[in-house]
Amino acid sequence: MPRKLIAGNWKMNGLRTQGEELARAIADEVAGGRDDLEWLVCPPFTLLAPVGAALGDGAVALGGQDCHPQPSGAHTGDVAAPMLRDLGCAYVIVGHSERRHGHGESSDLVRAKTEAAARAGLAPIVCVGEDEHQRAAGKALAVLEEQLAASLPGQLPDGLVVAYEPVWAIGTGRTATARDVAAAHGHIRGLLAARYGDAGRGVRLLYGGSVKPDNAGELLATSDVDGALVGGASLKLDAFLAIGRAAP
Ligand code: PGA
Repeated sequence: MPRKLIAGNWKMNGLRTQGEELARAIADEVAGGRDDLEWLVCPPFTLLAPVGAALGDGAVALGGQDCHPQPSGAHTGDVAAPMLRDLGCAYVIVGHSERRHGHGESSDLVRAKTEAAARAGLAPIVCVGEDEHQRAAGKALAVLEEQLAASLPGQLPDGLVVAYEPVWAIGTGRTATARDVAAAHGHIRGLLAARYGDAGRGVRLLYGGSVKPDNAGELLATSDVDGALVGGASLKLDAFLAIGRAAP
């Protein structure tokens, strides 16, 4: 059984003192805890260094929320994967729907970012998910198929994680039912196996979208769910810890 990954995506939230305090508290709380859980926080770029220092070398990994496909160059405002690695990141989220929709990122670009992450020694967390209209039209699984086919590199990146995040569930308080999550994750598992063979079966699959302490137990017990990508609730110490601790 792979360790379940409990990942906090802080998005564009947090100033230094607050971020350091939260990071320190998470690290203190999970130290010496369950070894079947892996904890990860992905703060905004501005907080990577102080949060990394606050986490120390302990049980909580550090990740970025995005990276540029190029390793360096004239790209004002962007951050490259080797820069994240240099700051101690082990992971980077790519293709989050807030990037795909808010910044017009295509799956081709997400694939280039995924490759850049892998080249830099980061484990990419590739996000996919259907929107409300696609779901209503019965196209949810087809959308996942399309996004994955175009967002993933030909070669399996080391440590690849795929996050299923239905767009309509992000930040809305609505979660997919365990049944829908099982169907989506089962489908993704099959696609990864078809693409990468047996190694593809070992890719961890996270569910994301309004994960809270009161639904985490059921979601994390759902078949083919290997962890959670948590937005809003990851900014609250008690809620974030409770989500991880709800894992069966
Ligand atoms: P949410 O965000 O938990 O606030 O819905 C999840 C995400 O966007 O990763």
